[in-house]
Amino acid sequence: MAYFSGKLVYITGGSSGIGLAAANLLAAEGCRLVLIARGEPLLDKACKTIASQTDQTAQAINFICMDVANNDDVRQKIKTAVETFGIPDILINSAGIGTGDYFENISYEQFDKAMKINVYGTRNVISATLPYMKQKGGGHIVNIASVAGLIGMFGYTTYSTTKYAIVGFTECLRSELKRFNIKVTLICPPEVKTPFIHEEAKTLPPEARVVKNLAGLLTPEEAAKAIVQSIKGRKFLVVPGVMAKSMLFWHRISNGLLTRVPSDLIIKFASRPSLKK
Ligand SMILES: NC(=O)c1ccc[n+]([C@@H]2O[C@H](COP(=O)([O-])OP(=O)(O)OC[C@H]3O[C@@H](n4cnc5c(N)ncnc54)[C@H](OP(=O)(O)O)[C@@H]3O)[C@@H](O)[C@H]2O)c1
Repeated sequence: MAYFSGKLVYITGGSSGIGLAAANLLAAEGCRLVLIARGEPLLDKACKTIASQTDQTAQAINFICMDVANNDDVRQKIKTAVETFGIPDILINSAGIGTGDYFENISYEQFDKAMKINVYGTRNVISATLPYMKQKGGGHIVNIASVAGLIGMFGYTTYSTTKYAIVGFTECLRSELKRFNIKVTLICPPEVKTPFIHEEAKTLPPEARVVKNLAGLLTPEEAAKAIVQSIKGRKFLVVPGVMAKSMLFWHRISNGLLTRVPSDLIIKFASRPSLKK
């Protein structure tokens, strides 16, 4: 894909899961990368692995350690990154955490943390990067939300709240940034097989597990492919996966009835004590 050749891509959450898979694909397409996350060991490993598997020189794959939830840190680090590596052509916001549990079990602090990383984190990175993209005369911003940002599901009072916020934020942003030649894409994947789901599984209620299965499971590579294709195709909303797409279709045409009724029935069955063991 000559489209991507030489483009500079910043990827938050680029050390793991969907962000890392997107980094791999984009490096193979000839992009230069700046991977962003908090943990240095995984970032360093990701950069070295990508550089060794592609034609890229090590200088073309870089990383910065940054907590997206810390606005001051983000402003300073993005400024330094731009001065060192250049203004990104593409910004992918994949940094995020999961929280699946019964509402009563989720503390104020857990809710606050998820909002700070998933919502404020995305806002902070875009706010810090936008002036440079405008100065460059264009670009592409990709936000990773979730099917849980389009359909509310059992066990996701916190996570869905953060992802619905990202959906609204991204829809508004698309409309505002068009005049600056900055394209915006919103990706809403179903479950993706990454370290995220192992972490989430520690508290995910059994009812949520059963409902979640209705939307299907993707590999990180499938989710990354959807991201790369949607950038090239300049698409706005992309829901990868046949099951997730069809679930959203029935949800929308029935104003939610055709997802609420089956999921309520499934939850009733999944809540039986024998299934909770
Ligand atoms: N996996 C799924 O089932 C699924 C489905 C739909 C949508 N998503 C969304 O896709 C995105 C990526 O998820 P994933 O599955 O790839 O998760 P993952 O494998 O756990 O990766 C998360 C990445 O985000 C980084 N990160 C987390 N908190 C951060 C912070 N405060 N500042 C900077 N970086 C931070 C992590 O690195 P550090 O911890 O080192 O900072 C890591 O690189 C998330 O927004 C998630 O909500 C995931």
